[in-house]
Amino acid sequence: MTLMETQLDFLGDLRRTHTCGQLRAADAGSRALLMGWVHRHRDLGGVIFIHLRDRDGVTQIAIHADADEAAHRKAEQVRPEYVIAVEGAVALRSADTVNPSLETGEVEVFAEKIWILNESRTPPFPMEETVDVAEEVRLKYRYVDLRRPHMQRNIILRSKISFAVRECLTGQGFLEIETPFMTRSTPEGARDYLVPSRVQPGNFYALPQSPQIFKQLLMISGFDKYFQIVRCFRDEDLRADRQPEFTQIDLEMSFPQEERIFEVIEPLVQRVCQVAGFDVQAPFPRLTYAEAMRHYGSDKPDRRIPPMHPVEHLFPEGSLSAPGLPLLAIRIPQTGALSRRERDELKAYGVERGLRVYDDPKRVERDHAEPMARVRELTGAAEDDLLMLACWAGEPKGHRPEETVLQACGQLRLFAAQKYNDRHKLLDPRRFEFLWVLDFPMFEWDDEERRWNAAHHPFTSVHDEDLDKLTSDPARCRAKSYDLVLNGTELGSGSIRIHRRDVQSKVFAALGFSEEEARRRFGFLLEALEYGAPPHGGIALGLDRLVMILAGETSIRDVIPFPKTARATDLMCDAPAPVPEKALKDLGIAIRRPQ
Ligand code: AMO
Repeated sequence: MTLMETQLDFLGDLRRTHTCGQLRAADAGSRALLMGWVHRHRDLGGVIFIHLRDRDGVTQIAIHADADEAAHRKAEQVRPEYVIAVEGAVALRSADTVNPSLETGEVEVFAEKIWILNESRTPPFPMEETVDVAEEVRLKYRYVDLRRPHMQRNIILRSKISFAVRECLTGQGFLEIETPFMTRSTPEGARDYLVPSRVQPGNFYALPQSPQIFKQLLMISGFDKYFQIVRCFRDEDLRADRQPEFTQIDLEMSFPQEERIFEVIEPLVQRVCQVAGFDVQAPFPRLTYAEAMRHYGSDKPDRRIPPMHPVEHLFPEGSLSAPGLPLLAIRIPQTGALSRRERDELKAYGVERGLRVYDDPKRVERDHAEPMARVRELTGAAEDDLLMLACWAGEPKGHRPEETVLQACGQLRLFAAQKYNDRHKLLDPRRFEFLWVLDFPMFEWDDEERRWNAAHHPFTSVHDEDLDKLTSDPARCRAKSYDLVLNGTELGSGSIRIHRRDVQSKVFAALGFSEEEARRRFGFLLEALEYGAPPHGGIALGLDRLVMILAGETSIRDVIPFPKTARATDLMCDAPAPVPEKALKDLGIAIRRPQ
C-alpha cells in the first residue's frame, strides 16, 4: 500500500541524461531527463515550479498547465521529498529570474512528462541546513538527515579524502592490506568490545582497538610498507571527538627513522587539505613533549594562540611561586581591558584547578617593577592584551609535579582564549596550525592501579640512551613516539616500535606484566620478534577527526554517516539491543541483571 495512494510510475527503462547539478546556459535548447527528490514545490496555478534535488545540486523544473495538462496534473500531486523523474526542454531563464545561488540557476527545464517514482511522508524536519534540529531527531531519521546539503558535503568530502589517501600512499609504495576484526585484544588504553564464540562457549574474540599488532606482524612478514583505512573499536567514555567505532588511516613501514614517517605524512596531509580547498605549508614545526608542556601546558598545543612563557627565573626565588615550580606568563592578545568581574572569572577558573593567578600585572609591578618589565618584553604584551601570571597554589602533586602545574596553566590559557575569541578571533577554524610533538614520556603513572602504564602503547621503543632507565627511572624514560596535532586536537599518533625480543620483555616487565602474563597475552608477538623482525615504525591518523576539522565541524558525528550517541547507542536501529534467550543459550551466556 502506498502512503497516500498516489498512482506511482515504474522506472522501466528511463535513464537520466544529467544530474540535478549539471545543466548550464550552454545546455539551453537541448533535452534533459532528470531524477531526484522534490526539494521545493510552488503551485502558482497555471505553472508549478519544482526544485528537484540530488546529491549533485538542484535544478528548477517548470510545469505549465497549457503546455501539458497531464504533466501539470501530476505535478499537482507531488509533495516535498517525493522521488520523481521529469523530461523536457532546457531553457534559459530571463535575466530577472536567474537564481545566482544555484549552480544551475541560469536555466530551467520545461517538463513535458513527469513520473512519480515514490511518495514520501512529511519529513521530520526541513532539508534546509539553516534549520536547527535536535540531534536525537537527526540521528533517529539519519537517512533523511544525510540528505541535507551540509551532511551531503561532509560525506562527499570524506569520500574524496579517503580516495586521496589511497592515491597518495599507493604512490609512495604502500600496500593496502586488511587485518582481522575478530581477534585477540590489541590494547590502546580503552576497554575491548567482545564477541562471544558459539563454537567455543566461554571464549571471546576482541574487536581490535587498532590493527597495531597485525601491522607489526606484516613488517616481520616483509611487506615493507602497509596501510589501511580501517575501523577501530574502543569502549571508552565518548566526547565530541570520540566514537566507539571510528576510522584510522593506519600505516607502518620498515627501517624508518621518525623523520621518514614525517616525510610520508606531511605530503599526505597537504594533499588531503588541498582536496578540502586549503593550502598548508610543510614541513610542520616540531616540539618535544617537554617543550610543548612548558610553553602550552598541553601535549596538543593550539598554536593559533601565543605560547606561555616560563618566568620564575625573573623573580626573586619564592616571591610569587613555590621554589622549584614554574611561574607562567600567559598572554592573550587584543582582549581589551577586562572588567573586575571578567578578571574574577578567570581567576576562579585557575583557582579551581589549583592555581594562584596574578590577574593584575600592575599590582605585581608595585613590588617587582623590573621583572615585570622583562615579562612584558618577553611576551610582547601590548596595552590591549590580557597578561596574567600563574603558579601552583598548594603542595605540588603527582610523579611529575611540574607537569601538573603546566597543565593547569595551559587550561587557563585555553579558557581565556576561547572566552574572548569574539574579540581577537584567533581561533579561526579555517586557519590550520599543524605540529609534530615528539619524545613523549614512555610511561604514565596510574594512580588507581598504582603502577606505570604505557603512555602510547606497550610496543613503543624507548630512546636508545634511556634504555638503561627502564627499570631504574621509568618516570624519565622518553619514548620514540610522536603525535600529529592540529589546532589543539590530536590528529594522529605513532612510534618507532620495539623490534627486539629482549627489549620488549624489559618493557613488559617495567609495565608490571609477569613473564607469564606477557606470554599469555602477547606470546605470538614475542615469538614473532624472534623470527627476524626488522626495525619498524608507523602512525595512525584519525580520519573522522581530520574530516571534521577540514569540514569546519565541531563534532565527529557530523562526518560519520551513522554515528553513535554519547551513550554509544544507535538511535536509528536501536542498538545495542537484547537478544533472544535462545541466542544467549547457544553462546553459553547467562545475563546477570544489575540489582
Ligand atoms: P591512538 O590510540 O593514538 O594510536 O589512535 C590514533 C588516532 O586515532 C584517533 N582516535 C579516535 N578517533 C575517534 N574516536 C576515538 N575513540 C578515537 N581514538 C583514537 C585519534 C588518534 O590520534 N596503534 C596506534 C597508532 C600507532 O602507533 O601507529 C593508535 O591506535 O585521531
